[in-house]
Amino acid sequence: MNAALPLAAAGYVDAQGRLLPARVRADFPILGREVHGRPLAYLDSAASAQQPRAVLDAVTRYGELHHANVHRGVHTLSQEATAAFEGARETVRRFINARSTREIVFTRGTTEAINLVAQAWGGTQLRAGDEVLVTQLEHHANIVPWQMACERAGARLVAVPLNAAGEVELDAFAACLGPRTRLVALAHVSNALGTVLPVKAMIGLARARGLPVLVDGAQAIAHQRVDVQALDCDFYAFSGHKVYGPTGIGVLYGREQQLAALPPWQGGGDMILTVAIERSTYNELPWKFEAGTPNISGAVGLAAALDYVEMLGRERIAAHEQHLLHTATAQLREVAGLTLVGTAADKAGVISFTLKGIHPHDIGTILDREGVAIRTGHHCAMPVMTWYGLSATARASFGCYNTEADIERLLVALDRVREVFA
Ligand code: ALA
Repeated sequence: MNAALPLAAAGYVDAQGRLLPARVRADFPILGREVHGRPLAYLDSAASAQQPRAVLDAVTRYGELHHANVHRGVHTLSQEATAAFEGARETVRRFINARSTREIVFTRGTTEAINLVAQAWGGTQLRAGDEVLVTQLEHHANIVPWQMACERAGARLVAVPLNAAGEVELDAFAACLGPRTRLVALAHVSNALGTVLPVKAMIGLARARGLPVLVDGAQAIAHQRVDVQALDCDFYAFSGHKVYGPTGIGVLYGREQQLAALPPWQGGGDMILTVAIERSTYNELPWKFEAGTPNISGAVGLAAALDYVEMLGRERIAAHEQHLLHTATAQLREVAGLTLVGTAADKAGVISFTLKGIHPHDIGTILDREGVAIRTGHHCAMPVMTWYGLSATARASFGCYNTEADIERLLVALDRVREVFA
C-alpha cells in the first residue's frame, strides 16, 4: 500500500506526496493568532518549535485522566501514569532506533543531557592533560559543561576550526584528533548557521581511535531521520521543544555499555535499589540516571510530538524545509546590504544574516511589529559569532508548518526595516 494514501486523504500531502503546509498549519492553534494586529509569521522554530493540537491534547488528557507519580504506586492511576511514561520511552527508542529502552534517559532537555555526560563521564574518565574535542560552531550547551569538566580534571577543551562557509571539514577534524583526545562532542546541526555536520564520517574517525562521541542533536531531531545505530555514536542528546513537544523534557541516548559504566550523576528517589545510612545501591538503566519525580506529562507530550512527526514523515518534512531554505536563500541574496552568515553546502532550514549598518536587534524588533518572529543575538553560540567577527545575527528558521507566504512576509518586513533606517 502507498504509505502516503491516508495522509493524502486527510489533506496533508499532494498527489506527489509532498507536504501541504496549509493543512499542517491547521494543527497548530498558535499559528492562528495575530501579533501587533498582523497574522503571525513564525520563523523561530530553531529556538522553539510550536506544538500541534495532538501534543496539547495528549498533555491535557494525561492531566485530566491519568496523572499520579510513576514507579511508586499499586493504585490504578500510578500504574496508568507509569505505563504512559514508559510507553513514551519506547516511542523515543523507536524514533531514534536505539537498541533498548535501557539506552533512553529522560532529562530536562539537551543541556541537561550533555551536563549528565560531562559530569558522570568527565568526572571519572578525564585526567590532567587530556583533551575534549568540540567544534567552533557548538552551542554553549556543548561547550560550557565540557569546560567545567576540563577545569575539574586539569584537562583542555579544543575546538575544530571552521572554513569560511561555516563548515567543519573532515581533514580539519582529523587534524585535531590527537593522542590526548579522550572524547569528541559534536553538534549534528549548527543552531546559529544551519550547517549540517558530516557526523557519521566524524564518528567513524573518532571511533577508529577508540574515542567516545556525543552528538548534540537539538537542531537535527526535527529535521532529518536520526538513527543512533546507523550513526554509531555513544551519546545523542535532544530536547522535546525543538521537535514540536513541550519544554522541560529531553532525551539522552547512551550506548548501553557506556551508560552502564557511568556512575549516577544525581542522587535521590527512583535512582536507587537500596539505601542505608552507610551506603546505597543504584537502580538499573535507565532509571539510575533519573533521580526524583520526572516530567511525566512532558514525556507524554514528547511521545505525541514524535508520533505527529512520524505521521507527517521525516523525509517529507525535510524536503519541505529544504524547499523553503533554497527559496528563501535565493530571495534574501537579492536584498541590498544583506549578508548571509553560514553558507554551507549542506544546511538545515536556518538562515542567519546581517543587514549593513543595522543592528540585528533592531531588525528583530521591527519585524516583530510586522508580525514576523525571528531570533536575533548570538544564538548561545558566541564562539561562532567571534569566528565571523560579529556580535550578533538575525536568524530565520523553518519548521513543518512554514510556507512560502512566511518567506514573503519576511522579505516585505525587511523592506520596512530598510525604509526605517534609510
Ligand atoms: N538553542 C536555541 C536557539 O538556537 C535557544 O535559539
